[in-house]
Amino acid sequence: MKITVFGTGYVGLVTGACLADVGHDVVCVDIDQSRIERLVQGEIPIYEPGLESMVLRNVEGQRLQFTTDASMAVEHGVLQFIAVGTPPDEDGSADLQYVLAVASTIGQYMNGYKVVIDKSTVPVGTADKVRDRIAGILQERAVELAFDVCSNPEFLKEGSALEDFTRGARIVVGTDSDRVSELMRECYAPYNRNREKLMLMSVRAAELTKYAANAMLATKISFMNEMANLAERLGADIEDVRRGIGSDPRIGYHFIYPGCGYGGSCFPKDVQALARTASKVGYEAELLKAVEAVNKRQKSTLFEKLSHALGGELQGKTIAVWGLAFKPETDDMRDAPSRELMETLWAHGATVQAYDPEAMKECRRLYGERDDLVLVADRVQAVKRADALVICTEWKEFRTLDGEWIRGQLTRPIVIDGRNLFDPDIMSAAGIDYYAVGRGKNS
Ligand code: UGA
Repeated sequence: MKITVFGTGYVGLVTGACLADVGHDVVCVDIDQSRIERLVQGEIPIYEPGLESMVLRNVEGQRLQFTTDASMAVEHGVLQFIAVGTPPDEDGSADLQYVLAVASTIGQYMNGYKVVIDKSTVPVGTADKVRDRIAGILQERAVELAFDVCSNPEFLKEGSALEDFTRGARIVVGTDSDRVSELMRECYAPYNRNREKLMLMSVRAAELTKYAANAMLATKISFMNEMANLAERLGADIEDVRRGIGSDPRIGYHFIYPGCGYGGSCFPKDVQALARTASKVGYEAELLKAVEAVNKRQKSTLFEKLSHALGGELQGKTIAVWGLAFKPETDDMRDAPSRELMETLWAHGATVQAYDPEAMKECRRLYGERDDLVLVADRVQAVKRADALVICTEWKEFRTLDGEWIRGQLTRPIVIDGRNLFDPDIMSAAGIDYYAVGRGKNS
């Protein structure tokens, strides 16, 4: 099938590459000239395991092209995926300007029947806005052309996006048209072989499914973080509690890991946007607001514990930070707990000595050159002559810690672990002043 994907960000690139990989003829289009030039030269702008080789083999096989030529791109595909960004605007609502700009472009250049597919995470009701925008442009052009708008949200996790796309639990398609259902079935057929994964529903239900899924997962995390904070104060170990409740199949083990708060480009933004959508229709989503508030508070616990351990003395201190990305296997630092920690440390006059296996470039891009940010080549360098260590991301290479060694490196053996990587008893036996999440000590 001929397919066009608007947007070569995370979702667009993964969607384009995965659809080309099963033989579809895919054109990815973006307004960012330099991004497209880099892609044409085989340079992949994001780090995602397996993506680079998938893009390269499909470009070579001539099933995947990159362009800024919108008219060619619109002409190309019967399916037009919109996978551009929906950043939050000042009040937390999703900003639809990029989605609607693509709708205008499609309206401007379309020359025959098109299925316009919202792949970006967009508020309920967006498909109607996209339809109106395209219809308006066609009217201006004084042409009559048939098109449908459908919702096909993605459920990719950064770090395992290819796996999630190719082996996802479900393919949600919101449409009321049989023609669209058939075309979408054909598009996804290679990834829908062993069992029926295609779920057809109304456009609005599909749009809400995406937000409900992320809000549910974020709720689980905030719930566990709240329990962890309670466990600290009640003298219980949250790891025991986690196993205790996870064993109940109605609760399950997934997404109940306490930590230093959820980050990334999805949960923080989507929880907020859904709460905004709710209040716009006259409903105050109290639970969602609490999920967000708990997460915000959780992100500050790293600093609070550190400050407590250092007796409130941060001025002039050097703090080692292991992990900058919001989670492992990505270089993404959007809303990462490390950012709140570093910014608070700087505000208190401390220097950050940080290492991350992938996100160093991104960190430099975000914060530039500054005296109180030292980015080092490995985890060993990070702790050299530091006053304390804070672990923000559970990268595999951080999962071992030799107590004696760390005591020899840090001026004070303080370790604040935002991801519960170690056994508190082993750490304290090794003479480390160890603070985890929901496991004994609190600040
Ligand atoms: C999330 C969803 O998991 C995807 O299903 C969805 O498609 C995606 O958002 C999206 O809307 O695009 P992602 O943001 O890549 O994916 O990352 P997750 O693996 O879900 O992690 C999000 C955050 O939650 C991370 O900061 C992680 O550390 C934290 N987390 C996760 C916990 O603190 N505890 C857990 O038990 C699980």
